[in-house]
Parts: sequence; C-alpha cells; structure tokens
Amino acid sequence: MARSAPASLVAVFLLVLALLLAIVAAQGPPLPPTNPSDAAALHAVFRQWRLEGDAAAEDPCGKGAWSRSFAVNASVDCDCFSGVACRITQLNVTGYRNITEIPPALFNLTELVSLDLSNNNLSGSVPREVGNLSKLETWHFNNNNLSGYFPHESSLLRNLKSLWMFDNYIEGPIPEFIQNLTNLTDLRLYGMKLQGPIPQNFSKLINLENLMLGDLEGNYTSFEFVENWANLSTLSLRKCGLTGQLLSPPRNLPKLKYLDLTSNNLSGSIKLLLQYKDSLNFIYVGNNSFSERLPPEIIQPSVPLNNIPFDW
Ligand SMILES: *[C@@H]1O[C@H](CO)[C@@H](O)[C@H](O)[C@H]1NC(C)=O
Ligand SMILES: *[C@@H]1O[C@H](CO)[C@@H](O)[C@H](O)[C@H]1NC(C)=O
Ligand SMILES: *[C@@H]1O[C@H](CO)[C@@H](O)[C@H](O)[C@H]1NC(C)=O
Ligand SMILES: *[C@@H]1O[C@H](CO)[C@@H](O)[C@H](O)[C@H]1NC(C)=O
Ligand SMILES: *[C@@H]1O[C@H](CO)[C@@H](O)[C@H](O)[C@H]1NC(C)=O
Ligand SMILES: *[C@@H]1O[C@H](CO)[C@@H](O)[C@H](O)[C@H]1NC(C)=O
Ligand SMILES: *[C@@H]1O[C@H](CO)[C@@H](O)[C@H](O)[C@H]1NC(C)=O
Ligand SMILES: *[C@@H]1O[C@H](CO)[C@@H](O)[C@H](O)[C@H]1NC(C)=O
Ligand SMILES: *[C@@H]1O[C@H](CO)[C@@H](O)[C@H](O)[C@H]1NC(C)=O
Ligand SMILES: *[C@@H]1O[C@H](CO)[C@@H](O)[C@H](O)[C@H]1NC(C)=O
Ligand SMILES: *[C@@H]1O[C@H](CO)[C@@H](O)[C@H](O)[C@H]1NC(C)=O
Ligand SMILES: *[C@@H]1O[C@H](CO)[C@@H](O)[C@H](O)[C@H]1NC(C)=O
Repeated sequence: MARSAPASLVAVFLLVLALLLAIVAAQGPPLPPTNPSDAAALHAVFRQWRLEGDAAAEDPCGKGAWSRSFAVNASVDCDCFSGVACRITQLNVTGYRNITEIPPALFNLTELVSLDLSNNNLSGSVPREVGNLSKLETWHFNNNNLSGYFPHESSLLRNLKSLWMFDNYIEGPIPEFIQNLTNLTDLRLYGMKLQGPIPQNFSKLINLENLMLGDLEGNYTSFEFVENWANLSTLSLRKCGLTGQLLSPPRNLPKLKYLDLTSNNLSGSIKLLLQYKDSLNFIYVGNNSFSERLPPEIIQPSVPLNNIPFDW
C-alpha cells in the first residue's frame, strides 16, 4: 500500500494533466483581446439598447457572455487572425420592437463587414456617419421605421454586396450613387416612399443576383436598364412605373427563375417572355397593358411555371 501510493498519485496527476491539455486543445489557443475602440463602442451600443446584462464586464470577442446571452436575436462576430487584437466584423441585432435608436457609437465599429439591424423599430433618418463603415458588404436595415433621405455618404460604401432597406419610410429619388456599387449582388428597395425613375445606369450592376425594387412614385421608367445580367435569378419590379414595350430588344438572363412585373404600364407582346421558359419557375405579370394574355393558370399567383405547358 505505502509503496503504490506515489505511483497512483503520479497516475492521477498525469490523467488530470492530460484532461487539462485536452480542454485547452479543444478551445484552441487563447484569443487576443478585442481592439479597445471596438470594445468601447460595442459596449456603448448595447448599453444604449439596454441589452448588455451580464456581458457588461466581458470582452466582446472572448468566449464568455457575449456568445452565450444573446443567443436568440443578437450576435457579434470577430476577426482575430492578426493575432494582435480582435476586430468586430459582424453585428446582428434583429427583432426587438423596443429598439428605436441607432446609437452614434455604432459608427465607431469601422471594421464591420456585416450589419443586420432588420425587424427592429428604428426611427429617424439614417445617420451620415454610416459612410464611416467603409468595409460593409452586408447592410440590412429592412423592416424598421426609418425616414428621411438616404444620406449621400452611403455612396462611400463601395464594397456593398447586399443592401436591404425595404419596408421603411425612406423618401426621395432612388439614389444615383447605387449605380457605382458594382459589387452588389442583392438589392432590395421597396415598401418605402422612393420616387422613380430607376436610373438607367443601374445597367452597370452586372453582378446582381437578386433585384427587388417596387412601390415607386412616378410613371416613366423604361425597361432598358435591365441588362444581360449573367447571374440574375430574381427580378421583381412591382409598381415601378415601368412603361413602354417589354424586352425590346430582349435581354439574355440565363439564370432567371423569378420574374415579377406586376402593376406597371408595360405593353407589347408578352410572348417575348418565352425566351426564359427554360429557367423561369415563377412569373407574375398582372395589371399591365400587354397585347396578349397569359393562359389563365399562369395569371394566378404562386403557380409554378414549370408545371404549365408552354403552348401560347
Ligand atoms: C467614438 O469615436 C469618437 C471619435 O473617435 C470618440 O470621441 C468617441 O468617444 C467614441 N465613442 C465610443 C463610445 O467609443
Ligand atoms: C428591449 O427588450 C429586451 C427584452 O426583450 C430587454 O432586455 C431590453 O432591455 C429592452 N431594451 C430597451 C431599450 O428597452
Ligand atoms: C448575421 O446577419 C447576416 C446577414 O443577415 C447573416 O448572413 C448571418 O448569418 C448572421 N449571423 C448570425 C450569427 O446570425
Ligand atoms: C427575435 O426575433 C423574432 C423574429 O424576428 C421575433 O419574433 C422575436 O420577438 C425576437 N425576440 C426578442 C427577444 O426580441
Ligand atoms: C416604435 O417606436 C415608437 C416610438 O418611436 C413607438 O411609438 C411605437 O409604439 C413603437 N412600435 C412598436 C411596435 O413597439
Ligand atoms: C465619420 O463620418 C463623419 C460624417 O461623415 C465624418 O465627419 C467623420 O470624419 C468620420 N469619422 C471617421 C473616423 O472616419
Ligand atoms: C414610426 O414612427 C412614427 C414617428 O416618426 C410613429 O408615429 C409611428 O407609430 C411609427 N410606426 C411604427 C410602425 O412603429
Ligand atoms: C468588389 O469585389 C472584389 C472581389 O471580391 C474586390 O476585389 C473589390 O475590392 C470589391 N470592391 C470594389 C469597390 O470593387
Ligand atoms: C460614380 O463614381 C464616379 C467615379 O468615382 C464618380 O465620378 C461619380 O460621381 C459617381 N456617381 C455617382 C452618381 O455617385
Ligand atoms: C452613367 O454612366 C456613364 C458611363 O459610366 C456616365 O458617363 C454617365 O455620366 C452616367 N450617368 C449618370 C446620370 O450618372
Ligand atoms: C457570376 O457568378 C460567378 C460564379 O459565382 C462569378 O464568378 C461571376 O463573377 C459573377 N458575375 C458575373 C457578372 O458573371
Ligand atoms: C401611369 O400611366 C397610366 C397610363 O398612361 C395611367 O393610367 C396612370 O394613371 C399613370 N399613373 C401615375 C401614377 O401617373
């Protein structure tokens, strides 16, 4: 007994050591601390929204309360690859009907790549400081109560890929600067108080996959801005004041799956849409001035086109 005691102690010690090493290995190397300016700004933002709770004392990019307590509708993501300091690159806070203000400190988070504040109750206008977030690729402020004009500084967000602003009260003409945001793949501006016409230079947005514009005041956009967009799969232009002959000359949209031209003033032959019959799954063209009518099955919304024989 007395002779085996040290041996079993050693065994226990080795076991504990192995366990600790396994835990450390599973967690990966320790993360560097969050950049102090990012940390201060994020704390200020969450303090103003009264969402901080027990995360007040925590490092935002650490693996503590920030990753646990907001599991449902808020999340923060960081880039720690520099090894020196973590930078906050993603902030999502959605679905809080009691969040009505955009805290100024938000615009100190200058490394943000993705900012999703959709489905809150934000009001007032979009602050011009949004232009400070020059690395933004995803900007989702849809389903809020924002009003006023797009600030001109939004034109500085040259890396934007996804801009969702639908269902707000933003007014004014559709901003011309959007034509310069040629990395855009997903643009959704409808359910607001914007005015047409759609700038014809939107034809330069060659990377578009989803384009959803709608509810524009005015009555005078021609369809010509729709270009030979190779990757376009959703084109929704409900109530955009589109006038004139449809698709003349026709466009090559090889990936088009969803087409909605409801409630415009388009005329001409609807048969031109036949060129998309191989890719299109949904088509809505009601409330226009076309010279022919679609087969009645197609006019009904939500009937998948690929279930319908094309003999028109
Ligand atoms: C945001 O940045 C400004 C200017 O650098 C600074 O004065 C302010 O204290 C910062 N706010 C927070 C909450 O960090
Ligand atoms: C909003 O509601 C959440 C609970 O859903 C609460 O934790 C938070 O303090 C509220 N924020 C404000 C600004 O009232
Ligand atoms: C944050 O929002 C973006 C854009 O809506 C989304 O792609 C991403 O998955 C979200 N992240 C988390 C952790 O919910
Ligand atoms: C989270 O978001 C969902 C959907 O947007 C919403 O129904 C729910 O009320 C939100 N939860 C909180 C705590 O705000
Ligand atoms: C949204 O905020 C306004 C104040 O700006 C408030 O009057 C309204 O009740 C809020 N809406 C909801 C759904 O909570
Ligand atoms: C943030 O934006 C404001 C308004 O556009 C500008 O005056 C300020 O210099 C910007 N701050 C930084 C740090 O870029
Ligand atoms: C939007 O804000 C206005 C005040 O600017 C307020 O009267 C209205 O109730 C808000 N709408 C919603 C849906 O919260
Ligand atoms: C657009 O995307 C490309 C490729 O992802 C990237 O190199 C470029 O910096 C982005 N920004 C602009 C303004 O083109
Ligand atoms: C688009 O970008 C060019 C080159 O940077 C600039 O001269 C032009 O004013 C911009 N157009 C709009 C409408 O912002
Ligand atoms: C449209 O783009 C062309 C070529 O880039 C440019 O010369 C013209 O000024 C632009 N038009 C408007 C209204 O911005
Ligand atoms: C379309 O998508 C492909 C594959 O994702 C990509 O390589 C290409 O740059 C995109 N844009 C255009 C205009 O083809
Ligand atoms: C748009 O034009 C059509 C036909 O010219 C007309 O019936 C309709 O009232 C016009 N709508 C608006 C908002 O001007």
